This record gives sequence, structure tokens and C-alpha cells, in this order.
Amino acid sequence: MTDFGIIGVGRIGTSFARNMSSNGIKVSLYDKNFDTSTDIKTHYSELESSLVFDDINKFISSISLPRKVLVLVPSGSSLDEALSLCIKNLNSKDILIDGGNTNPSISFENHQKIKSKNLLYLGIGISGGVEGVLKGPSIMIGGDLRAFNEVKKIFSKITSNTINNSKSFELFGDSNQGHFVKMVHNGIEYVEMQLIASIYYFMIKSNKYKYHDIAKVFKKWSKSDLNSYLLEISSTKLLEKTDGNFLLDIIDDKADDNGTGRWMLKYGLDLGCSLNMLNAALDSRFISKNNNARLKFNNSIKKEIMEYDININSLTDAYGFCRLINYVQAFLLIDSANKNYGWDISISKALNVWSNGSIIKSELVNTLYKDYSVDNILDDKKIFKTLNELKPGLIDVLNLSLKNDVSLPCFSEALSYINQISSLFLSTRLIQAQRNQFGSHKISIN
Ligand code: 6PG
Repeated sequence: MTDFGIIGVGRIGTSFARNMSSNGIKVSLYDKNFDTSTDIKTHYSELESSLVFDDINKFISSISLPRKVLVLVPSGSSLDEALSLCIKNLNSKDILIDGGNTNPSISFENHQKIKSKNLLYLGIGISGGVEGVLKGPSIMIGGDLRAFNEVKKIFSKITSNTINNSKSFELFGDSNQGHFVKMVHNGIEYVEMQLIASIYYFMIKSNKYKYHDIAKVFKKWSKSDLNSYLLEISSTKLLEKTDGNFLLDIIDDKADDNGTGRWMLKYGLDLGCSLNMLNAALDSRFISKNNNARLKFNNSIKKEIMEYDININSLTDAYGFCRLINYVQAFLLIDSANKNYGWDISISKALNVWSNGSIIKSELVNTLYKDYSVDNILDDKKIFKTLNELKPGLIDVLNLSLKNDVSLPCFSEALSYINQISSLFLSTRLIQAQRNQFGSHKISIN
């Protein structure tokens, strides 16, 4: 008998299984698409003791009770199919774990279905990518406490050490709250990626800097408190070559997304929270895919080819400023979800679990965890002091970008946000007056 079952053995599932096996956890693997002639076990020696199935009944019978079955398939019809299989074949008190990037509201519905069959449910967000999951992922968990207690021992063997010296998994609350924290993680990830991408673009468009120069700046930052996993991989990618060409000279720039950023934006809309940086990060991806419009506008809109020098000190401050605003926006969303949905997601717990194993692991996550009152960020004087120090750099960078027809997605939104959120008098005075005029909407007079 094995200790754990995994349904869906793609790239992440394989890494998860390899990590578990190397840590002495015997796994059963099921994938309806398993090609038994190219046995996964021959590719990965760690998986020697694991059992591999393309028959669900044999797979289920091979796992010891209470069964713990992790489903790692894309959300949508594949997930629905896998959950139905589990509901049909698992027994009461078995634990069904959804480890995909699942929309928190779907996660909630799935929990209800599973509950009615007397199965226990965990909705878990797994971060780290293929390599991180192999070495020790960051796992954000929601669901039944009993189920959590059953998997705790296993998860502590396969995760990384965090900033507070615990292991990189946490229970955040009921069913959908693990997936919610993972969704927020991904929203932060989108903005972090876009900020780095905007910097690369700003520098290369100046016609003064080459890939090596940009990589040099990134490497310098990597040795400072701006260090992050995403910055490190970006400097490597800047220098990567394929058949003698720089990858960035030949790569197609159309950028996809798996939906998690869109879901977070929708939560922002429902809760009335500004996520303008995430919106801009997603917009860039959407624009990149609008081939037809890009060609038409490119042929018709005048742009000068410019050369400009960038003040790297200003750029450094601007980057630091925007990264902080990204976290502030994410924290305020969590805060609002807690208040509106009666949840109790701890932001410091989230930072702890993101501090190692996750895609957004960084010195900033560690600093926020150690030095800031993140669960009450608006009462933390330090963050306002830092923002005031860094803001002139952002203005300098944006001035230069405007003069040279270069957009810096996420940078301009950070400034717009700070200028508005720090004002007691906003343009919405007139909005209220307009609404009152044409719709007789009620207004209040101060
Ligand atoms: C992680 C990532 C991962 C996500 C990819 C792709 O934490 O390991 O967030 O879960 O699926 O980053 O996301 P997009 O396709 O939306 O860019």
C-alpha cells in the first residue's frame, strides 16, 4: 500500500511525486493518459517504489486509509472529471485535495459537493513551478482542520524552511481560502513580473543600454534588498542565447495567462478595491495578443526614435516604490475579503509561507514579514516614510518615459494610486455632483 495518491501527473505532478518519493513517502500515480510503454519510473529513479496506474479502481485500492488523494489537473472540465471520479470511488473520511490553480468560488462549491459525500476536502495552492515543487514548494491551504492534521506530517517533509523557521505550508481557513491566498500570490507575481519587464523595456528602448548592461543592473539589485527569485531569473534570461541569437531578440511577445490574475481583479471589483497595478499588468498581456490592432496602430501612430540616459538611482527608487504599492494593494484586498466574507486570513502567515519555495520569494517578502505590521499596514509609519523617500525617483522615471513615448505599465499606476489615495480632496467631488444632476442620486454635503 502507498501513503499518498496523485491524479494528474503533468510537469507539476511529476515534481510533486519525485519530491515525496525522495522524502520516503510512497506514492500511487494515476493519469488516464499514461503511456505505459514510456514508464515515468524509468525516467526518474526516485519514483522506483511508486505505483503507476491508468485504471482508477486499482489506483484507489493501492492507497492506505484514510486515503489522501491530490488532484493536479487544470481547472475546468478536467478538474470536474477528476473530482467526479474521486467522489464516485473514494470512501467516507478519505481526503480529497485540489492542488490546482482553482478559482476560490469554484473551490467553495467543490467543497460543498464533497462534504455531502462525507469526504474531507482541502483546497491548496501550490507555488514554485517545476523546480520549486521538486525542492520544496510553498503551499497555501484551505479546508477541513481534520484533513489538514492528517496531511501535516507529509507536507512538513516536502516543503522548505521559511523566514520564521517553520515549513512553507499554512492553513488559512475554510475551503476556498487557500486558493484565495494562492490567487493573491499570483496577482503579486503578475505585477512583479511586469515591473521587471517594464524596466527592461525602458532601458532597451533608450538605445543606450544593451542586454548585458540591464543584466548588470539586475545583478546589482540581486545583491541588495531588491533581490527576488523573479529578478534573478530575469537577468539570466536577458543573456540567454538560442542559435547565436539573444532569446529576447527572437521570442514572440504574445503573453498568455492562466486566469488567476483575472479572478483576483474580479474579487477587486466585487469588493470595490483598487488593483490598478494588476489591471495594468494584465492589460499588457492582453495588448500583446491583439496582433491586428497592434499592426494597424503601429502603421499609423507617429513615434520618434529617441536616445535617452536613465538615472539608475531614480530607477532603483522607482522600482522599490512600486513593489511596495503592489503589496499594499494586495494586503488591502485581503483585508477587505476578511471583513466582507467573515474570513480571518493572516497576512503575516501568507508572507511567511511565500518566503521560501514560492515564485514571489524575495528579500521584500522577508522584510515585510520582519519589519512591518502587515496585518495593519495603514497603521505602520515605516511604510509611509519609505514611500516618501522613494517617490521622487518614480516621478523622475515617469517624466523621462513620457517625454520619450515609452509606457511603463505598473509604474504609472503606482503613482496615480498614491497621488489619489493620499488626497482628502478628489475629482470624485464632481462625479458625485454629475450623478446627482442626471440621476438624482443622493449626495452628502460636508
Ligand atoms: C506558481 C505560479 C504558477 C502559475 C504560473 C503561470 O506560483 O508556481 O504562480 O502557479 O501557474 O506562474 O501563470 P500565468 O500563466 O497566469 O502567467
